[in-house]
Amino acid sequence: MSDRSPTPDQLALYERACAVRERAYVPYSQFPVGAVLVAEDGRTFEGVNVENGSYGLTICAERTACVKAVSEGANRFSVIAVSTHDSARTGSPCGACRQFLSEFGLDLIVVYRREGAVVAEPLSALLPAAFELRS
Ligand code: THU
Repeated sequence: MSDRSPTPDQLALYERACAVRERAYVPYSQFPVGAVLVAEDGRTFEGVNVENGSYGLTICAERTACVKAVSEGANRFSVIAVSTHDSARTGSPCGACRQFLSEFGLDLIVVYRREGAVVAEPLSALLPAAFELRS
């Protein structure tokens, strides 16, 4: 089995995602999520889930962070930390977010809580045989 132990820096990033989570806009689910995305140029981008009364328009925290980053000119990323409400035993990015993030590289390290423990693993492990339109 691969070693999923996070580095101290990755753990600190996860703690930051927990703090970011406080800003989630979740009047419908009461399920806050926070994300911190680290760009290769060193900048970091924070995101929360933003829900909407038209439920399907809800945007996940990971995609909020990613869209903020790309809009600011960053599209090469090294790590994303995701923190979800404690009620989820495993707080990994949803399938849509995995696909969305994969656009910018499958080497991205994802830090999240898996069955109670914080782990770090590449997006490629979370999205095997990913769909890739770009050659
Ligand atoms: N959510 C995220 O922000 N990220 C995920 O990867 C999974 C789900 C949000 C969407 C919705 O606001 C709430 O969590 C419950 O599904």
